[in-house]
Amino acid sequence: MKQLGGKVAVITGAASGIGRELAAACAAQGMKLVVADVDRDGLSATKDLMPSGIAVRTAQCDVSSVEAVQRLADLAFEEFGNVHLLFNNAGVAALGPLWSATPEDWKWVLGVNLLGVANGIRSFVPRMMAAGDEGHIVNTASAAGLTAVAGSGVYCASKHAVVALSECLLKDLQLAGSPLKVNVLCPSLVKTAIADSGRHRPIHLASTNHDTAAYDLRVRAGMAASEVSAADVARMTIQAIHDDEFYVLPHPAVRLRVEERLRTIIGDHQHLQPDGLPAETDEP
Ligand SMILES: NC(=O)c1ccc[n+]([C@@H]2O[C@H](COP(=O)([O-])OP(=O)(O)OC[C@H]3O[C@@H](n4cnc5c(N)ncnc54)[C@H](O)[C@@H]3O)[C@@H](O)[C@H]2O)c1
Repeated sequence: MKQLGGKVAVITGAASGIGRELAAACAAQGMKLVVADVDRDGLSATKDLMPSGIAVRTAQCDVSSVEAVQRLADLAFEEFGNVHLLFNNAGVAALGPLWSATPEDWKWVLGVNLLGVANGIRSFVPRMMAAGDEGHIVNTASAAGLTAVAGSGVYCASKHAVVALSECLLKDLQLAGSPLKVNVLCPSLVKTAIADSGRHRPIHLASTNHDTAAYDLRVRAGMAASEVSAADVARMTIQAIHDDEFYVLPHPAVRLRVEERLRTIIGDHQHLQPDGLPAETDEP
């Protein structure tokens, strides 16, 4: 999609990190914005960072709620008439080995990371299709959606699902003859607030894996060392929309890890490579 100026972008998880930078990148293209998040103060801060003259609507929205995402879509279509870029970006991370992951870890992470994306597709895509314009659905997965990471099993499962559903969504749209396109964003570690994503965890899902300390240290060290910023990720995502590139892999090292995994799957390697602690390039 080449022309973004004057078009409409909806971005979830826009109160912080990659979502805030996606909002800034869309604003730089002259787009109208609907920025959504559970964090009302963070949303106001995002709005204040946007250049003057850009139409920005904030919406408090828990993406794991079917009804809340439906209300978000109603608001966006009522306010701006159509949506051209839908960024299903909100996400959270829970760490620790799989055997001590709690049922609440699963419900929280899958509810936000997987069902949040599913809710966005369900509430927005039929109306985007009916409008008949060009557009993109951009799902934020992760390098953890293309590889396996020790201590991130719940998160990896959610992100592998986002990659798979994004591939299926593209095929569904192609089969339906829709002009809509899909991108799936697969960054490795980027310095954002995701290591503190428990800050917005609902109280009824508070019970968490007790064995997270070593993994948490590893993620924070990896983020501190990351040479790719959230703004870099946003810039590469806009470029991928422009060039219609389905996979967005901002970290070059991830390509090697994907290749290694695929070689293992097709039998070139005998075994999955073990992860050590601390690792250099692991990602949430
Ligand atoms: N930072 C990384 O290293 C990294 C790497 C790969 C993928 N990702 C993915 O990038 C996306 C953005 O994360 P980030 O790194 O910018 O982290 P972040 O914590 O800075 O931003 C995530 C945003 O999502 C919001 N959010 C959390 N739960 C929500 C909910 N139920 N409904 C609506 N909003 C909710 C948070 O309030 C926050 O503003 C996530 O999907 C994450 O999994 C991040």
